[in-house]
Amino acid sequence: MSILEIKDLSVSYLGDDYKVRAVDHVSLNIEEGESLGIVGESGSGKSTLMLGILRLLNERTSKTEGEALFRGNDLISMNKKELAKVRWSEISVVFQKAMNVFSPVHTIETFLSDIYKVHRPNAKRQEIRKELTDLLAMVNLPKQVLRMYPHELSGGMLQRTSIAMSLMFRPKILVLDEATTALDVITQNQILSEILEIEEKLHLTRVLITHDMSVVANFCKKIAVFYAGRLMEVGYVEDVLVHPRHPYTRDLVKSYPTFSEDGTGTVISIPGTMIDLKKAYTGCPYANRCDRATEQCRTDRPMEDQMDEHWSYYCHNPLQGGETDESR
Ligand SMILES: Nc1ncnc2c1ncn2[C@@H]1O[C@H](COP(=O)(O)OP(=O)(O)OP(=O)(O)O)[C@@H](O)[C@H]1O
Ligand SMILES: [Mg+2]
Repeated sequence: MSILEIKDLSVSYLGDDYKVRAVDHVSLNIEEGESLGIVGESGSGKSTLMLGILRLLNERTSKTEGEALFRGNDLISMNKKELAKVRWSEISVVFQKAMNVFSPVHTIETFLSDIYKVHRPNAKRQEIRKELTDLLAMVNLPKQVLRMYPHELSGGMLQRTSIAMSLMFRPKILVLDEATTALDVITQNQILSEILEIEEKLHLTRVLITHDMSVVANFCKKIAVFYAGRLMEVGYVEDVLVHPRHPYTRDLVKSYPTFSEDGTGTVISIPGTMIDLKKAYTGCPYANRCDRATEQCRTDRPMEDQMDEHWSYYCHNPLQGGETDESR
């Protein structure tokens, strides 16, 4: 069953003399209990997609169109009061810069208690302390952390604390936007493994936004590949990463050393640059960099094609499978 149905969603940033099409008519279903990794080059609209859905963008300088149905209710058209009930308690987000989330002049306990009280104003001090201690335990932090100030915590501890905070109201969906990217690989893997355990306990649906394909391969069931604000391909990790249909997925996979077929670890970068999202264009945004581009790719927008009900791609000239080693 879908828990979040994104339908024809577009998000633009508006300036005095420009419009950036950061998310461009994206449709995507997120199933309950699923873990979805969202990947794509920097600037492909991954963060904007989630910020637009949760309406965390400045309404004067951005425009969000389309629908995002959370359990059938559209977040985009929902009134602010209803939306406030969904954010945090139903869908919560952890961003990369945990340090910026906390107040430098308050202890972790004061900071977290204040948030707790916003949603549970009648809660007693003892109850809050017990709840916060349990939350910290969930991410393997001792209760002493409550008495500490943010600057006394290591990067990993801070990130764990912000994950604990995001779980405070037992959300249904947890969004991690590059939440562990700044940490060393060992700490990142530990935290992600802990999250896997927590999500089983809490029946969480997880959306993990990352640059790191190996993180998606290890910690997600499904993958959605974004490019220039568009969804290029989505499906189970073992299908999409092993037999990509979209040439962009293949090129992205090749640009990761751990996935290179000959095992030499050579990074093959994708030639060319992403199109300017301020400029209007026709066809596929990847056409100028794609070795399979045809005339049609430059003129017609590719529509969705499906391999099966879980696997879709948007390409006029898709790979047919077994072509991942095609030389560029
Ligand atoms: N406030 C803003 N005003 C104008 N353009 C913006 C703004 N924020 C983002 N953009 C542009 O929107 C596009 C999508 O950005 P976004 O941050 O969503 O990408 P991303 O995939 O999350 O990238 P990264 O991997 O670097 O986090 C980019 O072209 C970016 O320059
Ligand atoms: Mg981002």
